[in-house]
Amino acid sequence: PASARRDDDGRIEIAGVALTDLVERHGTPLYVLDETELRTRARRVLDAFGSRTAPLGARAHVYYAAKAFLTADVARWMRDAGLRLDVATGGELALALAAGVPGERLGLHGNDKSDDELATAIEAGVASIVLDSAEEVGRVADAARRAGAVQGVRLRVNSGVHASTHEYLATAREDQKFGVALAQVPGIVAAVRARPELRFLGLHSHIGSQILGVGGFAEAARRLLEVHRDLLGGGPVPELNLGGGFGIAYTADQEAVAIEELADGIVGTVVDACRELGVPVPDLAFEPGRWIVGPAGVTVYSAGTTKDVELQTEDGPAVRRYVSVDGGMSDNLRTALYGAEYEVRLANRLSTAEPVLVRVVGKHCESGDVVVQADLLPADAGRGDLLAVPATGAYHHSLANNYNLLTRPPVVAVADGAERVLITRETLTDLFARDTGLAGGAA
Ligand code: LLP
Repeated sequence: PASARRDDDGRIEIAGVALTDLVERHGTPLYVLDETELRTRARRVLDAFGSRTAPLGARAHVYYAAKAFLTADVARWMRDAGLRLDVATGGELALALAAGVPGERLGLHGNDKSDDELATAIEAGVASIVLDSAEEVGRVADAARRAGAVQGVRLRVNSGVHASTHEYLATAREDQKFGVALAQVPGIVAAVRARPELRFLGLHSHIGSQILGVGGFAEAARRLLEVHRDLLGGGPVPELNLGGGFGIAYTADQEAVAIEELADGIVGTVVDACRELGVPVPDLAFEPGRWIVGPAGVTVYSAGTTKDVELQTEDGPAVRRYVSVDGGMSDNLRTALYGAEYEVRLANRLSTAEPVLVRVVGKHCESGDVVVQADLLPADAGRGDLLAVPATGAYHHSLANNYNLLTRPPVVAVADGAERVLITRETLTDLFARDTGLAGGAA
């Protein structure tokens, strides 16, 4: 987080709270979240888009992608910052509603929504349901009819723009499960418009995640707007939703996207395309998750076993130092799943020892259980030290699991020198409670 500092003893503090103090109270592994940064970033996205669409007479809706990290407090912080919430399952929907986010501030996604999920969402009056297939038109319309409601829907389109981490490439044909092909859109929208229980809001596109440039969004916007124009002949199309996926810097050599620059590029493209097509600029919607919460989080581990492994490299023998920590792929799945890159910092003291190249690994029974593939730590860092891994606010707690019966870490929010537990540490009692062979928990 931007508020990270070292005090005179070299201890890292976040928002004025020393990680050593947090660890004394909450143990490790520990997720720490800078509340102010999270809330500031939420407002910043809304402002970046809102300030650019307002002069055009259009609105910008920002739906926080709850899958990145959701607790009741986070849901309320997003609501209070003026954002909406994008939920993708009945679980995320239930939590948002229980936290007090009104249905009209929610959007429901998913490529396989259950009847229950649809009924709950419609009952709650969600602002939009994103249709992900032709089949869903009838299912959502029937569910809305049963509820006596008229439900706003968007149609997720597979634009054919394939976003990768650094660039984008257009693919002629997409082979993945989300959305419908551009060519199918007119027929499906006609079916939507034929159902009085549905109100068509517009097209939706999500080209991918951790995207560091504007090109893919611009290309997707252009492709969608052509179809959007054709649809205007048959009725109103008030919105265009361009999804989420704004990238962040995980390491010092990656450059984060300034959201204002992205907003300039995306809104500018929409304006140009609308002018060329001769259509009014629609309201725009976005669904960022990672950009809002990722940089606000840090994971703190206790270092354990250190091992120097001898390697044969092209340049001759070398040594790789493995530093183990008390978590791993159960609290950070991203390195194992995506080969993601992270940095590590010695968090509890200063060291004048020379920096050495290390690989930080977890304690799970898998060789792929890596947290940080390569970074420098002082040569004397090891057992008894605390290690901090930045940029872990998004898709860390939400992807956490119980592999090897590790319990999931707590999440503590810090702001202005004070702390607040958002999620408590899972206990063995929690885990064993589901094992019927232990008669409801033996821990
Ligand atoms: N909208 C839709 C329809 C999505 O599927 C997603 C993410 C988002 C918005 C938010 O994307 P974001 O702005 O957070 O990049 N587990 C992966 C990311 C998977 C994202 C899935 N969908 C990771 O840890 O990188």
